[in-house]
This record gives sequence, C-alpha cells and structure tokens, in this order.
Amino acid sequence: MTKHSTKIWPRTRYVALCLAGVSVLSYVSCGDHESIPATVTFTEHVAPILYGNCSICHRPGGTAHFSLVTYEDARKSAGASAYVTKERIMPPWPADPHYTTFKGERILSERDIQILGKWAEEGAPQGPADKMPVLPKYPDGSENGTPDMRISVPPYFLKANSSDRFLLVKVPFELPRDTFASLVEFVPGKSNVVHHVNGDLVSYEFDKKKDVFAGERALDMQADTAKLLAAFQRLGLPNDDGTYPVLQKSVVNYLPGAVGQKYPDGIGGYKLPRKGIFLLNDMHYGFTNKDDITDSSYINIFFSKTQPDRPLQEFQLGTLSSFGNAPVLPDLIIQPNTVKPVHSQYTVPEDISVLTINPHMHLLGKSFKAYALKPNGDTIRLISIPRWDFNWQYFYTFKKMVKIPMGSTIVAEGVYDNTKQNLNNPFSPPRLVRDNSGSMKSTDEMFQFIVSYLPYREGDENISLDVK
Ligand code: HEC
Repeated sequence: MTKHSTKIWPRTRYVALCLAGVSVLSYVSCGDHESIPATVTFTEHVAPILYGNCSICHRPGGTAHFSLVTYEDARKSAGASAYVTKERIMPPWPADPHYTTFKGERILSERDIQILGKWAEEGAPQGPADKMPVLPKYPDGSENGTPDMRISVPPYFLKANSSDRFLLVKVPFELPRDTFASLVEFVPGKSNVVHHVNGDLVSYEFDKKKDVFAGERALDMQADTAKLLAAFQRLGLPNDDGTYPVLQKSVVNYLPGAVGQKYPDGIGGYKLPRKGIFLLNDMHYGFTNKDDITDSSYINIFFSKTQPDRPLQEFQLGTLSSFGNAPVLPDLIIQPNTVKPVHSQYTVPEDISVLTINPHMHLLGKSFKAYALKPNGDTIRLISIPRWDFNWQYFYTFKKMVKIPMGSTIVAEGVYDNTKQNLNNPFSPPRLVRDNSGSMKSTDEMFQFIVSYLPYREGDENISLDVK
C-alpha cells in the first residue's frame, strides 16, 4: 500500500478498518489520522515529542539519570527510547487509559511511538536546525508558583553505590497562629535519588507540647519499623504528657515525576496548627551510582487566605485499613512460588465524590484493579493497572470528581507474583512474604487502596479538577 492511497481513501472506510481492530496500514495507526512523515528527523518530529513527554524527567537535574534534551543525548538513546515507548514502559503511566482516564496522564499516542521507532530505525537523523523547538522552561523549585513558606528537610548523606534506604523523618515547624494551607508540597533536592515520600501532619494542641524541635530528626526505617512506637518516642512525637497528638495522613506526598496536587478553590487544603510536625513516614531513597550524594529536600507551603470549606477526607482499604473492617482477604501471606490474588472491600455509608486514588503494593505486586459496585449492580470503574510497577505509584486524580452513591461497595483487587519469573522478587529463591503489621519495607508486602474524597454535593461531577 502506498502513502498516496491512504490519502484518497474515504474516511469512513479507514474508520471501519480500525474498528475491526486491525490496522492494515503499517505506518498509520488507528485513531491517528495524520500519517507518519516520509523522513523523520530530530528537530522536526522527535524533539517535540521528547520535550512534551520526556524531558520533564530526562534533563539535567531531572528524575532520570540521563537527559533527552540535546540531539546528541537523544541520538545515543534512540534505540532504547523506541523500545521503551513501544512497550509503554515510558513515559511511566501504569494505569490502563482504556479503563479510566486521569488528570496529567503521561501517555504517548500511537503516532508518537511510531515516529520514535522510525527515527531510530533510520539512523536518528538530526534535521534542519531552524526547526528545533524551544525547550520548555521547566520549574526549579515549584510548579505551583512562589511558596509562602519553605521548610528544609534534614539533609541526608548517601554514600556512592548505596542501596535503597527508607527513613522516618521529622520536619517540625512553628507558626505565629493556626492557619490554612491550600497546598503542602514536597520538593526533592536530588530528584534522581528521592524515590517517594508519604508525609503526614502531626498537629499539637498549643499547650500540650513545649518543644516540637526536640528529639531526633531522622531514623532508618529498615532498622526501626518493628519498633515504630519506640521510633516515635525517639523522634519526640508524643505530647509532653506521653499521649499522642492528632495525625493526619498523606498531607505531603511525593513520587517520581509527581507535582503537588492543586484542587479548585475551596477544595482540599489543610489546617496547620501553631505547632506541628510533618512526619515523612517512609521517605525512600533509591540506590546511588558512583557518586556520594547529599540530598537537601524541602517542603513548600502555600497558605490560603480563607479556610478551604471542603477539606479532603480519606479512607484506606487493605493493610492498615482506616476502619479495620476492610482487611485484606485472604490474609496477605504469599507462599514462595505462588501467584496470589487478594481483595479488600468497603461499603460507603454516604454519597461521596472521589478526587484522587492511590493503589499501593510492593515488589511482588503484579496487577491492581479497583471499582465500585452500586446498589443497583452497576459498576463504576476506578483504576486498572495491568502491569504493576513498584517505581511508579502515582496519586491518580480524576479529571472530574467521581460520584459513588451511598451503599456502593468499593472493591480493590490485587495479584502478587512470588515466583522467580517476577524480576522484582527481592528474594532468590523466593521466600514466604507477608504483610508485617503494616511494615513499609519493600521486602515485606502491603495491599492498600487510598481514596481521597468529599461528601457528595449536587453538581460535583461537573467540577473540573484539571486546574493548574
Ligand atoms: C516521570 C518521569 C519520566 C518520564 C516522563 C519519562 N521517563 Fe524515561 N525514565 C525515568 C526514570 C526515573 C528512568 C529510570 C532510569 C533512571 O533512573 O534514569 C527512566 C528510564 C528510561 C529509559 C531507560 C530504560 C532502561 O531500561 O534503561 C529510557 C530509554 C527512557 N526512560 C526513555 C523515555 C522516553 C523516550 C520518555 C518520553 C516518551 C520518557 N522516558 C519519559 C523517568 C521518566
């Protein structure tokens, strides 16, 4: 088939062929009506794809360890880029876009994938210099503007060639008065080693705690998980009388490539106490290469003038479920050389509007799926991750809120692969792996589904969450 013949084909015929599920046009994919150029060059065709989809991470100072900015950089990885995009390993977006779609999706079109493939095949030509697009201005510090306050996370030293580290880090603060924040955002110092952070907010009643700065600042989780309460003591978290203050989960999270979640005005946000602590409960540093590294991350706070009138609420299914009545079934005990499905479910006692969801498993995770069953039997799709990837655990925000009516049952299903075929299996030969009282060690397992929601209000499903 020649290129010429596609152009004169009636559109309806083309669409019909696509519906049959087979693209007979090897160089044009279904759904992309623009054909692939006869000669694919870096400046004309490839750079726009890389700048729009890859360089946010693949640039000097980005999350990835190599850059895809200059022609030379991109040429060196042309073959690898063609491969990882064809396999949809890159850009990293584990959720299946055919099941549900989310804000900020990182997904290449079939056409982009074919362009990268053709470019690599044809020897990665450079193309005319005057066609070179301008590199977008990537943010340095925050994508959300200038923060009102910045608090440093204790610097952390990583030796060259060190393996993963999980820390429990305390970031105390004092404010002149109780206030509100529209966004609390974690910014990695060295984004190529900071893997992820789950940060909670500990709020003290003013007269219950004299000194929020007293105590240790950072502990090694892998040594301390089994003794979490002891770790809390060492960090000086309890009130002066030994009781525990209020802890609000998931106030400041970070994942590779993720940016702070801004919601429309009045939605989300936090009440910040005069005395408080951000408890980075599971700050994960990935392995380092040949260089010693000192990471100096920080937390940005954006105050809000008014009290957000709809603070986010959250519940969790699975390991450490918020209610204890959405346990993992059967128990998360995964025998060696087995593939094990588990599930967890929770029936919502009121109408809710779901904004953001976060599936969580560790290295044995194979797939994840969540949906809600309405009382009338209908299914509301939430997320499907056919190929679980420990390295990319996004907080997925819907483009518009998803209403789940009272009495619906939210079901989360996970599959674990504890065979040697699972290349991420931390043990060789495979060993029995289980959840360990909520241990976040990646060699223990977890099964969690975290849902951020609001009590439903009329019209919620029409509010766009796709705000910048
Ligand atoms: C959200 C951040 C992010 C985005 C977006 C992203 N990458 Fe990556 N990419 C990474 C990280 C992190 C790695 C892991 C290796 C590393 O640390 O550099 C990686 C690895 C790779 C690798 C090496 C794979 C291997 O097995 O060695 C290639 C090639 C690659 N990316 C190409 C791309 C291309 C092409 C795009 C855009 C279409 C893209 N990436 C988008 C973060 C990203």
